[in-house]
Amino acid sequence: MQYFTLFCIGLLICIYEISASTWNKGQFCQEVVDQHNAYRMGNCASPLKRNTTLDAIAQKWSDELASTGKFVHSNTTEYGENSYKKTPFNFDKENGSMPVIAWCSESSNYTVSKPQLALHFTQVVWKNTTMIGVGATVTKDKGIIVVCNYYTRGNYENQFAVNVGCPSPKS
Ligand SMILES: *[C@@H]1O[C@H](CO)[C@@H](O)[C@H](O)[C@H]1NC(C)=O
Ligand SMILES: *[C@@H]1O[C@H](CO)[C@@H](O)[C@H](O)[C@H]1NC(C)=O
Ligand SMILES: *[C@@H]1O[C@H](CO)[C@@H](O)[C@H](O)[C@H]1NC(C)=O
Ligand SMILES: *[C@@H]1O[C@H](CO)[C@@H](O)[C@H](O)[C@H]1NC(C)=O
Ligand SMILES: *[C@@H]1O[C@H](CO)[C@@H](O)[C@H](O)[C@H]1NC(C)=O
Repeated sequence: MQYFTLFCIGLLICIYEISASTWNKGQFCQEVVDQHNAYRMGNCASPLKRNTTLDAIAQKWSDELASTGKFVHSNTTEYGENSYKKTPFNFDKENGSMPVIAWCSESSNYTVSKPQLALHFTQVVWKNTTMIGVGATVTKDKGIIVVCNYYTRGNYENQFAVNVGCPSPKS
C-alpha cells in the first residue's frame, strides 16, 4: 500500500512535468499577441506587429524574474512593459489570452483624467505603439511569468485622449 501510494505520487509528478515540458510556448506567445490585437480592434487601434528584437528583450527579463524570484519592472525607458505572474499555472487549460485579459480587466477603471488606474490596459491599446515582443518563462514552482515589451512605448502624460479608445460619436 505504501509503495503504491509512492508510485501514484511519483506518477502524478511525472504527469505534471510532462505537461509543462510539452507546453507549446510558441503558440502561447502568439495567443498573447492575438489577444492584444483583439482588444486593439475594439479600441480603434491597428494591430501590433511581432518583433524578434523585442521578443529577445522580453524573454531575457522574463528569465531574469524567474531566476531571481522577484517581480519588478526592468529599467527600460525605451520600451513599454507589461508583466504577469501566475502560480501555479495550468499549462493544459490556461492560455496566452490570460495575461492580456488580466491587464485589460482594468479598463473599467480607465478615465482620461485619471488613467493611473489602468496603465496596463492603456499600453495594450495605445494607438501609437506598433510593435510587440513577448517573453514567457516557466518558474521553478510551476507557475508562469510573461513579459511584453512595446515600441514605441505608450502611457505618455497628456496623450491618453488621442491614444486610448475609439472617438466618441458626434452628437
Ligand atoms: C524591431 O525592434 C527594434 C528595436 O526597437 C528595431 O530596431 C527594429 O527595426 C525592429 N524590427 C522591425 C522588423 O521592425
Ligand atoms: C534599476 O535601477 C535601480 C535604480 O537605479 C537599480 O537599483 C536596479 O538595480 C536596476 N535594476 C536593473 C535590473 O538593472
Ligand atoms: C483561452 O482561454 C480563454 C479563457 O479561458 C478562452 O476564452 C479562449 O477561448 C482561449 N483561447 C484559446 C486560443 O484557446
Ligand atoms: C478599480 O480601482 C479600484 C480602486 O483602486 C480597485 O479597488 C479595483 O480593484 C479596480 N478594479 C479593476 C477591475 O481593476
Ligand atoms: C509615435 O510613433 C512614432 C514611430 O512609431 C514615433 O516616431 C513618435 O515619436 C511617436 N509619437 C509619440 C507622441 O509617441
